[in-house]
Amino acid sequence: MKSGATLWWDAGLPGIRYIDQTLLPEEYKIVDCRTVQRLATAIRRLEIRGAPALGVAGAFGVALAASACTNKDPSAFVASVKKDAELLRATRPTAVNLGWGIDRVLARLTGCRDTDTARADSLSEAQTIAKEDTLCCHAIGDHGAALLPSRCTVLTHCNAGALACSSWGTALGVIRSAVNFGKDVRVIACETRPLLQGARLTAWELAHDGIDVTVITDSTAAHLMRTGTIDAVIVGADRITRDAVFNKIGTYMHAVCARYHGIPFYVAAPLSTFDATRTEQEVTIEERNRDELAVMGNSTLIPDGVPVKNFAFDATPMELVTAIITERGVFRHPIDIEALLSTGVTQTTIDPHSS
Ligand code: MRU
Repeated sequence: MKSGATLWWDAGLPGIRYIDQTLLPEEYKIVDCRTVQRLATAIRRLEIRGAPALGVAGAFGVALAASACTNKDPSAFVASVKKDAELLRATRPTAVNLGWGIDRVLARLTGCRDTDTARADSLSEAQTIAKEDTLCCHAIGDHGAALLPSRCTVLTHCNAGALACSSWGTALGVIRSAVNFGKDVRVIACETRPLLQGARLTAWELAHDGIDVTVITDSTAAHLMRTGTIDAVIVGADRITRDAVFNKIGTYMHAVCARYHGIPFYVAAPLSTFDATRTEQEVTIEERNRDELAVMGNSTLIPDGVPVKNFAFDATPMELVTAIITERGVFRHPIDIEALLSTGVTQTTIDPHSS
């Protein structure tokens, strides 16, 4: 990974370069993306994925639209960039960061006096978003590390690591920080059917960093919680509403199981993932295509004509969350999202070397 980054702007293209996450762990390939249409395909195919990385991709996507638009008339220019932005926004409905990144750059360019300034400013805003994301992940990691015992086994679901962010990661950022602080952390990575982000990506990242990781089938998690192997569950988030945490399908069952067994269930996410104006009922859960379940390589796994349900995400009620770890600190149960966002100061005093 280039300086640990998942995606970045390349002035020489001009455009975005990113790690194609569909090919890992078999192949590490950097893709050159020169058009908004190609970026939209990359997001739909999960070549770029993970909420914070989608925020950065949306931001660079608007910068790309601006860089490609040659119209000198400011209002026609803005209209063209906004049209491209809507194409990107429609690619994935659940991860709130995508629209957040797009809107932040759009807001910056709409106020510009001419198209050259708009181009330069939109790129500068996107670069800032990418840098801020890395800083947020490190802050989340350092705050969250204090929650982990000095020797522990942590279960995680999907991939909330460097690949899902600009770098470092949210849930995996907590694990990376804890390891950096000298804690002995073992990670249990759920494979995360059907696209195997846990088996392919979390395992790849952690093994690459020399962090102890073991992959299990998703259905093994309950057994390990029951038999006392798991000390904590840490996951990322795609959207946090007033009442629920949306994350990869399967997260809810881990939260229920963790509560039953008295295991802390932590969510690590930047403030850009919060959507305090909405409740669970107002969020669209992405449903993906049948072949992700029904086809593996050249094999058909499900008889023709039998329907499938392939939800990409589920919602975990806030009451099951032990604490949310943000760049501002650790917010413990009972969690009041509006208060969390408005005060900005309610945070646990952090001693990363504690416990
Ligand atoms: O469908 P994906 O792979 O984009 O889903 C990703 C997740 O569910 C992650 O857990 C979430 O985006 C948090 S990433 C820091």
